[in-house]
Amino acid sequence: MQKQKNDCFVVTAPGFESICAGELAALGIQPANIIRGGVEFEGGLQELYLANLWLRSASRILVRVGGVAARDFPILFQRLSRLPWGRFVKPGVAYEIRVASRGSRLTHTSRIADVCAAAMTKVLGEKKQGEKGSVQKIYLRMNDNYCQVSIDSSGEHLHRRGYRQARVAAPLRETLAAGCLLACEYDGSSPLLDMMTGSGTFSIEAALIALHRAPGTGRDFAFMNWPKYRPGLWRQLLIEAQREEKSTLPAPIIAVDNNPRAIAAVQLNLKKIGLDGSIQLSCGNMQQLQPQFSSGLMICNPPYGERIGKNASLKSLYHDLDRIYGKTFADWQGAIVCPESELIKSTSTSFSPLLRFSNGGIKVALLKKS
Ligand SMILES: C[S@@+](CC[C@H](N)C(=O)[O-])C[C@H]1O[C@@H](n2cnc3c(N)ncnc32)[C@H](O)[C@@H]1O
Repeated sequence: MQKQKNDCFVVTAPGFESICAGELAALGIQPANIIRGGVEFEGGLQELYLANLWLRSASRILVRVGGVAARDFPILFQRLSRLPWGRFVKPGVAYEIRVASRGSRLTHTSRIADVCAAAMTKVLGEKKQGEKGSVQKIYLRMNDNYCQVSIDSSGEHLHRRGYRQARVAAPLRETLAAGCLLACEYDGSSPLLDMMTGSGTFSIEAALIALHRAPGTGRDFAFMNWPKYRPGLWRQLLIEAQREEKSTLPAPIIAVDNNPRAIAAVQLNLKKIGLDGSIQLSCGNMQQLQPQFSSGLMICNPPYGERIGKNASLKSLYHDLDRIYGKTFADWQGAIVCPESELIKSTSTSFSPLLRFSNGGIKVALLKKS
């Protein structure tokens, strides 16, 4: 019997598309197209489950249910009723329809959603009123009188790995931190230092990469509620993932912050994923750091002045960063996530952008020491 293939779309934060395509390829899944905001691939359930389980930089994974051309509502209803809803949505399941429309005659997005709901009710029967969080998301994108229908296979956003118990000011999203580490070609084989660790996102994501732990191991996914869910296949993929996992870090990960609350938050987060004690964690000023190893990767996400650190002397902080990157840790690779502002441009260490993205609405870059 031929396996049913799905057209899938991995949604990423803009800027991370190529990193995510590289991750897919490493899983043995051929990326079909890289477009702004994501990567397309074709695959069966195995590839879909693998991508959800393993992708570190992805936000969510959608499956195309189908596409219909429509210039009026009756045609839209008729054609949407013919889509294979029964492959993805169990009768009675609660769902939420999100619509975007551009360059089309049908512009009224809430009416398009109502028509889609009516088509689904015709096929599946009445839906339940779902609990928040357990609702199946369906996306309709109307473009040039063509309605592309996709269904979300991930459920909660993929940055929700399940370990974030505590946080301090302005944490990076887990998917962004992992994407930055992958862009720096971090594979865990050499030491890593995050000297402004905050809630520990770089350090924890680095530990997951170094241990080869699948980021989706401890959570649920929307596809688990689909009629064709194959729990045996999922269990098998989890067993294989556990088999590949290393028990100890191949090289040290060092996390430092001068805020004791940050250190306590990292400890709590590490405990949640059973990694307490695995990272060298200390409370102190980065200005006092000296290299314990001859080489490695240092990465950090300093205050920018836009969200936190307004009153701090940012100029002197970036001056110290310059000295640490350029002199104290001269033999280390260095990367920094911050806006490309005068603060970083005026340093004597030369940095060049590897990625540009938005962090909580602020335009930043992953800058690599040349
Ligand atoms: C933007 S936050 C880092 C967020 C972190 N990347 C995360 O994902 O949670 C900056 C951190 O730098 C720390 N920090 C500021 N000045 C410092 C210094 N001189 N030495 C060490 N840490 C410092 C702050 O306490 C704060 O936790």
